[in-house]
Amino acid sequence: MLKDKAEIVEALATQGWVAIPNFLEDEEIAELRAQALEKYAKGEFTQASVGQGSHKAVHTAIRRDAVLWLEEPVIGAAKEFLAWLADLQFVLNQELFLSLVEAEIHFALYPQGGFYRKHIDNFRGGSARLVTVILYLNEQWQAKDGGELRLYVDEQPLDIAPEAGKLVLFLSERFEHEVLATQQERLSLTGWLRRRS
Ligand code: OGA
Ligand code: MN
Repeated sequence: MLKDKAEIVEALATQGWVAIPNFLEDEEIAELRAQALEKYAKGEFTQASVGQGSHKAVHTAIRRDAVLWLEEPVIGAAKEFLAWLADLQFVLNQELFLSLVEAEIHFALYPQGGFYRKHIDNFRGGSARLVTVILYLNEQWQAKDGGELRLYVDEQPLDIAPEAGKLVLFLSERFEHEVLATQQERLSLTGWLRRRS
């Protein structure tokens, strides 16, 4: 797993977001995909909720994905990805004077017709999530499949297709974003680099 962290840091520092196609090899994607789908088939995912504490609830008018948090033991490609993220966290702390202390990651699966309405990745009042990281696991994704990540950059919508192996990072608090309705099952590994909350 290469990946030029200096370029990522530079992009985050200047424009606040970056999309890197083909971040992972096909075999690594296939492995992560198989791992996620096996757990999904076993019923290990749970319907994603919105809000926190006593306000936490499933709202299918807002989001329709199911998630599974990565927990130990994490193995194979997922483990390598976590190790890479830990390195990136270190470099971001050093270069951008952030105080990231941990990563939280989940698989997210949107069924056909799924979406996630416009939002910001932090619970109201909380700002522990500093950097959003999304790795897409959708082989042979086509324009007609929809499901784009729409990032609002200076109010302008910027659509990013969720193609296998593409890695997207953005500053969590800076960008409103949404997931447009997907016509195919849509899978990703999504997480956040966090500061102490
Ligand atoms: C999220 C999210 C975007 C995507 O899970 O908070 O906005 O492209 N995901 O999956
Ligand atoms: Mn989000």
